[in-house]
Amino acid sequence: MIDLLKGEMENPDRHHVTRASGLRGYYANEPELERLIQTRHDPVHYEVFEHKVPAEAGHVMFGISKLQPGLIGQECFFTKGHYHTILATGETYLCLAGQGLMLMRTPEGDFACEEFVPGRLVYVPPCWGHRSVNTGSAPLVTLFQYQGDAGHNYGNIVDEGFPRRVYLRGGKIVLD
Ligand code: F6R
Ligand code: ZN
Repeated sequence: MIDLLKGEMENPDRHHVTRASGLRGYYANEPELERLIQTRHDPVHYEVFEHKVPAEAGHVMFGISKLQPGLIGQECFFTKGHYHTILATGETYLCLAGQGLMLMRTPEGDFACEEFVPGRLVYVPPCWGHRSVNTGSAPLVTLFQYQGDAGHNYGNIVDEGFPRRVYLRGGKIVLD
């Protein structure tokens, strides 16, 4: 069961909580992230709820991602972003609540971006790294599905980031 009002899975097998301190090294404005960590007692940045399925080919892993709204300086809150360890595995994300963007990049540096609004399904093709960005003022809640043995590779994204960042400037969302 998914509680659509809370944007959470009921009785998940796994509940991963990433706090603001987990994003050190990711945002453009590091002092502003430190200020958030200190002044707001390292608040929850995003959560992932998963139902346990075997991490094997043929199975479909699924769960809920809930990303809080907010800004680091002018930059919208985002998830770390990753490639799948088996690079050529795609993923679907169905937006259940909130608004945002899915940033995507290839190892070669190609870039793409898709909008999240409730009811819109975003397809992440094989070989594309992906990062969710919350551009709204409420949590961004998505239902994701991907092949069970895909795995996650965060290393390359930590080093390379994404070609664009998302800012709120003068009341407008800007990619820069
Ligand atoms: C799984 C997937 C999502 C993300 C989640 C958190 O393949 O893409 O479950 O893991 O939105 O984002 P990351 O993993 O980038 O910290
Ligand atoms: Zn993924």
